Amino acid sequence: MRFETIAIHAGERPDAAFGAVSVPIYQTSTFAFEDVGKTRGYDYSRTANPTRKVLEDTIARLEGGKAGFAFATGMAAETTVMHLLKAGDHVICGDDVYGGTYRLFQNVMQDFGLEFTFLRMDNRQAIEEAIKPNSRMLWLETPSNPLLNITDLEMAVDIAKKHNLLTVIDNTFATPYFLRPIEYGIDIVVHSTTKYLNGHCDVVGGAVVTTTDELTERVQFLLNAMGTCASPFDCWLVLRGIETLPVRMKQHEQNAIAVANYLRGHSKVKRVFYPGLLSHPGHEIARRQMKGFGGVVSFELNGGTEAVTNFLRRIKVFFLAESLGGVVSLAEHPATMTHASMPKEHREKVGITDDLIRLSVGLENIDDLIEDLGQALKRP
Ligand SMILES: Cc1ncc(COP(=O)(O)O)c(C=O)c1O
Repeated sequence: MRFETIAIHAGERPDAAFGAVSVPIYQTSTFAFEDVGKTRGYDYSRTANPTRKVLEDTIARLEGGKAGFAFATGMAAETTVMHLLKAGDHVICGDDVYGGTYRLFQNVMQDFGLEFTFLRMDNRQAIEEAIKPNSRMLWLETPSNPLLNITDLEMAVDIAKKHNLLTVIDNTFATPYFLRPIEYGIDIVVHSTTKYLNGHCDVVGGAVVTTTDELTERVQFLLNAMGTCASPFDCWLVLRGIETLPVRMKQHEQNAIAVANYLRGHSKVKRVFYPGLLSHPGHEIARRQMKGFGGVVSFELNGGTEAVTNFLRRIKVFFLAESLGGVVSLAEHPATMTHASMPKEHREKVGITDDLIRLSVGLENIDDLIEDLGQALKRP
């Protein structure tokens, strides 16, 4: 089956009980045993649940992995993956990852004895120089949030294999429709399903896809032991979203390209970050390793804080809100919103300036989106 068909058919569909074509929401905490010591395949919903299983199988197939796991949030997925490590282990991580990921590593996992080095992922020598005897994991996010930096996965996996590092990629921005990291040799894929996989801003969720029996067994153990799993209803919402992922991603990208080109030519705009633009430093790599450039566009405004505040107050079709990947267009200010948990010095070092605005370009009519940006940028 091809991607579009997998998105609609993967997992046990129709449902085995009555042939329901919409996956039933098994809203139950526990399952009656058939006999002493004999279940019907499920015993308790923290361990496994039939609705969650269809979602997990679907995401695993879309990513081309061995097994999938659905979590309460993207951060729950990430936290669970970090428990594959133990105190004393060292992690090399991209320096402009999602602010919540940075906070989890720096302000939580570090207290449990993990060590982190954050650096740009575009320089082979710098990455290799950061590797220490206790390095165990390479954590990547490409395109990164919010700067849309691109990591060359062939290079990253080559380094990791040479030094025996586990590779983890946050594939939230690209989704498996545009990027299939496992084909490049990545070991673990994580997602905030809150974003494009769900696509409608009506759920928070996360996912992990594994590539070996050993990782599968360990993630299943951790999910159950830590209780980080997703609820049946939330799984159903994500499943419903995934059915339209291919058509949504195509339109998100088409609208994002139009927005990026519009902003690029605007006198009030200092700089546009979008991997689809020829001027983007990662454009060639993105073109080679991705099927599309995605739906997020970031840009810097001329005119400092006042210009940024005015713009964010004036937008109407774009809502001023955190998150991304939904059908509705959203605009946000990373420095005070999604990346406020990163210290200012770190933000400045990596290039997340106070003038930066991130747009999640939705599926509204493109003329309405451009007109909205135009009126918000026009007034003094
Ligand atoms: C790239 C990326 N990864 C992970 C997360 C965390 O996901 P969640 O908000 O579902 O916990 C986010 C949230 O914005 C994100 O943008």
